[in-house]
Amino acid sequence: THQWRGLIEEYRDRLPVTAATPVVTLLEGGTPLVPAQLLSERTGCDVYLKVEGANPTGSFKDRGMTMAISKAKEEGAQAVICASTGNTSASAAAYAVRAGMVCAVLVPQGKIALGKMGQALVHGSRILQVDGNFDDCLDLARGLSEKYPVALVNSVNPARIEGQKTAAFEIVDALGDAPDIHILPVGNAGNITAYWKGYCEYARPSPAATLNGGASSHILPAISTHRPRMWGFQASGAAPIVRGEPVRNPQTIATAIRIGNPASWSFAEAARDESGGLIEAVTDRQILSAYRLLASREGVFVEPASAASVAGLLKAAEEGKVDPGQRIVCTVTGNGLKDPDWAVAGAPQPITVPVDADAAAERLGLA
Ligand code: F0G
Repeated sequence: THQWRGLIEEYRDRLPVTAATPVVTLLEGGTPLVPAQLLSERTGCDVYLKVEGANPTGSFKDRGMTMAISKAKEEGAQAVICASTGNTSASAAAYAVRAGMVCAVLVPQGKIALGKMGQALVHGSRILQVDGNFDDCLDLARGLSEKYPVALVNSVNPARIEGQKTAAFEIVDALGDAPDIHILPVGNAGNITAYWKGYCEYARPSPAATLNGGASSHILPAISTHRPRMWGFQASGAAPIVRGEPVRNPQTIATAIRIGNPASWSFAEAARDESGGLIEAVTDRQILSAYRLLASREGVFVEPASAASVAGLLKAAEEGKVDPGQRIVCTVTGNGLKDPDWAVAGAPQPITVPVDADAAAERLGLA
């Protein structure tokens, strides 16, 4: 039997690590690529969900964090710092525990989900709530990391992108080739940058290209013959890349992507343009509708920000932009348990019954 060894061991030859790198891991990665029945039916495509909420701390951030914390440890850091809308801090806090490091966290006050705050607290990080938004937090964290002996583990740290690119490798390994379209929510824009890097590194020239004197494909270990179009979706109240200018006061119920000035802005645009893709916006209403559909029709419970990818797919399909017969992967980035308020809100209160089978049967509509 083979137990998944964590993404650094699984993809060691494609990551900037050496025998001297201390591997700090919670055996992240190796997440499910789940066929989405209803979404496939609605679009006439083969749609899959890359379920990143199955990572150890419940989001894709663990992929970047195993690399960032391992490299920080290799370089002798004793403390790390991050700005976060919640998931990065939860992940940094957990991996810092594994590494025996201090973890400092800056979050926008009142704008992170309770589950994520609980994670940062229970893992013993030093949390400051900043009277500002995520962009302010990132400015502060950058400044502190320049002035004090503390390593910045936001996705501006290249090690984060290296770890996160492995999700693209896993998808190609699972499908045998890259999908035609890959769809992601976009916040600080690190993840779309990382997936694009991963797909590019795993691609080899198509057989047609090799006929014209390119490297012969059989000597190359990489496996995909093409690269997907990258589709990114921002929340409409926090859509700086779509508008073409920073959003000073970003607003969305999807707090994870409530970001007005993404650090990897230009890389996200490069991923979009080089892949022939797009970056568009979805409304909070579309996000919540996709969130409920994923839970009630696909059996996959994600946090609201994660549903932006699926909301984008459904929007594009309605606009006639999705040709049938394609292979499409939507990354769902974080676990629904992180922010359960939206699952409970608006749902009817469960009915209370006595300890009585007849009463229970009647209330359940069985009798
Ligand atoms: N989905 C979730 C659940 C996230 O937590 C994030 C980012 C994104 C999508 C967007 O990814 O920033 O790489 O474009 N969360 C960061 C955080 C900002 O602090 O946890 P991105």
